[in-house]
Amino acid sequence: MNIKTKIFNPKEFQLVITSGPTREWLDPVRFISNPSTGITGYFLAKFGLEIYKNVTYIAGYTTEQFKNVLGANNISVDNTQSMANAVFKELKDNTILIMAAAPADFTPSYYSEKKIKKNSEDQILVLKPTIDILKTIGIEKQKNYKNLILVGFAAETDNIKNHALEKLEKKNIHFVCANQVYKTQKGFSSLENTIYIYDRWGGEVIIGPDSKEIICKKILEYLNKRITEIFDRV
Ligand code: CTP
Repeated sequence: MNIKTKIFNPKEFQLVITSGPTREWLDPVRFISNPSTGITGYFLAKFGLEIYKNVTYIAGYTTEQFKNVLGANNISVDNTQSMANAVFKELKDNTILIMAAAPADFTPSYYSEKKIKKNSEDQILVLKPTIDILKTIGIEKQKNYKNLILVGFAAETDNIKNHALEKLEKKNIHFVCANQVYKTQKGFSSLENTIYIYDRWGGEVIIGPDSKEIICKKILEYLNKRITEIFDRV
């Protein structure tokens, strides 16, 4: 008989959700970003309030209606480093972190305090990578906490399963929620979506196609069920 040594109780867990894009500034009036809206993070946080002890919602530049989640601890951030700092500060034992945000992956190597004046010459923009928040937590910080469960998102155009499994491994996380983008403009800004969830223990499931709102509810239900099954091994 299989006797469980650890029982998963979501009411003993905090949920930390990141959402939306970050901005990397070139000068006071220009930035690099992406078209993420924050819908997915918003609904995950909203439904999470019904399941977990408390929810912290860390949002970049989402559209206005997805900036704050009523009842959550809402934190607004600017660039990828500030999102990283906010997430690191919230980490503690018994935490489920879902990185639904689309942090900018590159930042200008040079920031101009003054607005860069236009001229007729070609401009060369030199970029350097930003901090990979999830990977830093998976590889460096995870070991400092008890029951820290890490969930990433992956936007893929092809070979979804292989890329998603690579991401699980590379970032040393527990779950990855992958979605297909660009083929028919799914993902980032579309309203309907299909999500493929893979985990470190061989689990896989397809959720959708459905509205992002319904999908978010189903993602949390599935994570709850699956974490209950594998909790002994976390
Ligand atoms: N992420 C992060 N820090 C970043 C960028 C992304 O924590 N600087 C998180 C996202 O929130 C998401 C996951 O990592 O949960 C996405 O992984 P990533 O490797 O950035 O995905 P892609 O942008 O699709 O990367 P690749 O180009 O390697 O496919």
